[in-house]
Amino acid sequence: MKKFLYTCCLFLGCLLGAQAQTLSAPESLYQTLGQKAGITALMDEFVGRVLQDARIKHHFKDTNAQTLKASLSDQICQLSGGPCKYEGADMKAAHAEMGIRKQEFHALVEDLQAAMDSKGIPFAQQNRLLALLAPMHRDIITER
Ligand code: HEM
Repeated sequence: MKKFLYTCCLFLGCLLGAQAQTLSAPESLYQTLGQKAGITALMDEFVGRVLQDARIKHHFKDTNAQTLKASLSDQICQLSGGPCKYEGADMKAAHAEMGIRKQEFHALVEDLQAAMDSKGIPFAQQNRLLALLAPMHRDIITER
């Protein structure tokens, strides 16, 4: 009987433990991306890829890559729930006059996905970041 009770408690304990785990708050995306250091490394990789991407690199010919990486790192840090403050231009003002097309936006997103793959960021977490960025297409794409 004692053994039976012990087994029951163990079973219930496991059940409650599993339940608590599924109910606990999901880790913030900021943590998952490796906090500021991880995001900075990711933006380094991402901007490196963008500057080599024949589909879009012409847009960045007069861009200071270090400044852009710093701006993007702050933006992603803030968006993902981190303690940073993005102080650059809003997305509409930053991309006005560039004549960015839908295909170019998608090319940049592909570069970001490839950068996240190369950093070993799990697919589900990649999607969390992409979901935060996707609505920006309205302000960034100005050409058909
Ligand atoms: C979700 C997509 C995008 C995000 C989150 C994003 C974010 C940013 C940010 C934060 C800046 C810096 C603004 C500032 O510091 O004031 C910037 C600048 C810029 N972005 Fe984007 N961008 C996106 C898509 C694109 C696309 C698709 C292109 C072109 C194909 C592009 C081209 C540029 C260029 C050329 C600059 C200006 C860099 C400079 O100051 O020389 N962006 N973007």
